[in-house]
Amino acid sequence: MDSIVVTGGAKLHGQIPIAGAKNACLTLMPATLLSDEPLTLTNAPRLSDIKTMTTLLQSLGAEVTTMQDGQVIAMSSHALNNHTADYDIVRKMRASILVLGPMLARDGHAVVSLPGGCAIGARPVDLHLKALEAMGAELELKDGYVHATAKGGLKGGTVEFPFVSVGATENALMAATLAKGTTVIKNAAREPEIVDLAHCLRKMGAQIEGEGTSTLTIQGVDRLHGATHPVVIDRIELGTYMLAPAITGGTVELLGGRIDLIGAFCEKLDAAGISVEETDAGLKITRKNGRVNAVDVATEPFPGFPTDLQAQMMALLCTADGTSVLEEKIFENRFMHAPELMRMGAQIDVHGGTATVTGVERLKGAPVMATDLRASVSLILAGLAAEGETVVNRVYHLDRGYERVEEKLGACGAKIERIQAA
Ligand code: EPZ
Repeated sequence: MDSIVVTGGAKLHGQIPIAGAKNACLTLMPATLLSDEPLTLTNAPRLSDIKTMTTLLQSLGAEVTTMQDGQVIAMSSHALNNHTADYDIVRKMRASILVLGPMLARDGHAVVSLPGGCAIGARPVDLHLKALEAMGAELELKDGYVHATAKGGLKGGTVEFPFVSVGATENALMAATLAKGTTVIKNAAREPEIVDLAHCLRKMGAQIEGEGTSTLTIQGVDRLHGATHPVVIDRIELGTYMLAPAITGGTVELLGGRIDLIGAFCEKLDAAGISVEETDAGLKITRKNGRVNAVDVATEPFPGFPTDLQAQMMALLCTADGTSVLEEKIFENRFMHAPELMRMGAQIDVHGGTATVTGVERLKGAPVMATDLRASVSLILAGLAAEGETVVNRVYHLDRGYERVEEKLGACGAKIERIQAA
């Protein structure tokens, strides 16, 4: 397993290009199952999760070809020869569940392995299943698989989520595009990745209203045609790299960055004493003073502070002047980066979903363990500012969501290198 070695202390200066969004691409790719015509995605990120989704779609009989070093993904599922998504693939990546709605909507049957839990929580899929049942699907759980059928096809219905779920909203939205009649999805997720999916589905001929709000209304159509769609930029990669100059000092411009995708996050950066300037090329970040201010953070569904930036923000606040309280309100176990940051000298007190961080002048480099995707990168950020050397192990977690992190940070002056496992 590769590791990444960071030697802290360098102020960062330069530019970082922001890639297409992993979490948009992982829902746009299954959309190919809704049509027998080609769907092509541009500005796609080069990540291991995208490779896993490619393998899954190919296992169902879809043709998936990547071009331009992985930035273009050309897909065609004119004929599926398999309607079962295997546990072996699904267990590696939970987003695999997003093939369920499209497969069921198009062919009236699908068998998908339940994903099982993951490091940050149990992450059940009950809301996905209830949404499809509201559209007339019959579901049976057997041997760890969901067997879904929709005799005569899905029917429009009302889906009302008890709380916001990004993936369940995506599954329901995709399924509804081919359901007979009108579907209303209430308490829908409002994330930019949902808006991007709706834009792509509309290009394919879907009739959708309300993306970006809590209520989606979809008028089902008989079939969808092909399209070409650019993946929206990755607001989580953007926020992550905005924190690099914030934690080290210096000035970095994030190419393609857009404030509208990370408003709540930018408000917290401003309170911490980080300046965010919109430029023609993106967003320019500079730390105003020697040390950042402590700020309190609570994670919420969009447009609130993103849970996927909580670990990275904690790394910044470990060196703040004062005490910060971080509340993780989306997942039940998303503080696994805290014990690793404490190995670097951070002062963090975790009680349930609340972490109290008392800032220290400077962290000290240490060997640390990546546990999940966003925790991994928070340790890299901490290492950029720490005294001495930090070795982050198990960086396969990192490669799921960040393309070439050592190149992007190294280009701005960070002392960072990847050590290939023997
Ligand atoms: C998506 O996961 C993202 N993944 C996650 O990003 C992100 O953290 C999450 O949304 C929240 O923004 C992708 O888009 C591939 P949810 P998802 O359904 O859809 C519970 C990353 O780092 N829940 O909004 O799985 C669930 O356990 C990843 O890129 C149910 O109880 O998240 C969680 O506590 C991590 N039943 C909460 O809802 C369900 O049926 C929100 O989950 C579904 C979810």
